[in-house]
This record gives sequence, structure tokens and C-alpha cells, in this order.
Amino acid sequence: MALQIAYFHVANDVPDAASPDAAVVIDVLRATTTIAWALHNGAEAVQTFSDLDALRAAAAAWPEGSRLLVGERGGQKLEGFDLGNSPVAVVPELVQGKRLFMSTTNGTRSLQRVRDVSRVFTAALPNRQAVAERLLQEPLERLWIVGSGWEGAYSLEDSLAAGALASLLIPQGAQVANDEMEAALALWQRWQADPEACLRTASHGQRLIGLGNHDADFRCCAGLDQLRVVPTQVEPGVLRAVPVTN
Ligand code: MLT
Repeated sequence: MALQIAYFHVANDVPDAASPDAAVVIDVLRATTTIAWALHNGAEAVQTFSDLDALRAAAAAWPEGSRLLVGERGGQKLEGFDLGNSPVAVVPELVQGKRLFMSTTNGTRSLQRVRDVSRVFTAALPNRQAVAERLLQEPLERLWIVGSGWEGAYSLEDSLAAGALASLLIPQGAQVANDEMEAALALWQRWQADPEACLRTASHGQRLIGLGNHDADFRCCAGLDQLRVVPTQVEPGVLRAVPVTN
């Protein structure tokens, strides 16, 4: 049977009554871009939390020199955390060999929503090709792509990346399973020549611009197919780098 791909804009749209073979979570600005870069740069794993108390408790049980706290709310770094949610901040000198304990406004909520699915990956524009290749290697019949949005509302940039990912799967025989997926593919057609312009147009892009200069983040989040890393859930909430083999 051909792979059926459904796209859900936000965690709350994900149906309770069904479960796919795999879920891909997307938060282009910026959680899944940061996760991809952190794992590419040698982080041991990224452990994600929607609840900050749970994050602090898990981090406290981890050796001090081997952990980093990554926290963002409203686009800004959380007080007392080592890092905010910028993908350009997770450089090798900081993250190599470390476990990142991460909580963000929306992205980590979407991860929480699908954590019981048997295969969970994260994708962003920099690792979209690698994730597509991984999905094509798996024996999948039903795939959900889950966006993160902003506090329950639609986001342009996650839909752009959902369309970008699906645009590599459809020519290999995958089929569109809902209207949201069809619309995301059309969005990718519209912006594929200039994804950064789409990110800057998006309401969360505008929010980040309002908070200060995020030019490096926009460039990084819009950089297409630069990484071979596929963040893969290895236990509930814990993502590790699994490179794609050709
Ligand atoms: C989120 O989870 O909403 C984000 O990744 C927000 C951000 O840091 O830009």
C-alpha cells in the first residue's frame, strides 16, 4: 500500500482515535532547527519537555558537566537556563557530548503529543532531505507530519516545511491524505525559491524580528538540505542523531 501522508497544523489537531506508523514533528522557527543543529554538532541527545518542573528534575539527576538547559518562552531565553532556542548557539564547543534538556513554547508540546507513536522524528528545512530519505527506507503505510504553530494557532513556516518534506515523498509514490497536506504542498510551490522570505513574513518571524536582530537565525532556519542528521526518538522524549546511510 502506498504511504499516506497527513499533515496536522498543531498538536491539538492530532486525532486521539488513530495512530500512524511514524510521526515527524516540525518547528521551523526554531525548535526542530535547533535540535537538528545540536545533534549535528555532537550533542549526546536532546531530551524534550513541555513542563519546566519535569525538565529541572530530570536535568538535576544528570551529571552537571554533561548537561545544558535549553529553554524558551515567547521567543526569549528562560532565566536560569544555559541557552535559549537559537540554532546558531548550539555550537560544537558548547554541546559536544552533552545532553540538552529542552523546553520551548510550542515545539516540545507537539513532540509530547506524539511521543507514544512507534517511530518519531523531527524535521526542519536543513535536514529535510535526510528525513525524507529515512522515511523512504522505512516500511511505512501511514505518516503524520505535525506542525507546532503558535499557542494552538496555524503557522506558515511549519506548513512550508511540511510541504517541502512531502514534495520529496510524493514523487516516490506517497499519497496526500488530507487537505492540510495538499495546502502545504502548494505553499512550498509558492515559496521554494526563497524560504527565508516566507519565514520572515510569518507571524512568528515578525515576532522574532520585533524582539531584536535574528538575521543569523533566519538564515540558519531557512538553509535547505544542509544536514544529514535525522533526530530520532529513542525513548519517550529523547532524541538522538541517526545519520542516514545511502
Ligand atoms: C517554539 O517552540 O515555539 C519555538 O521554537 C519558538 C522560538 O524559539 O522561536
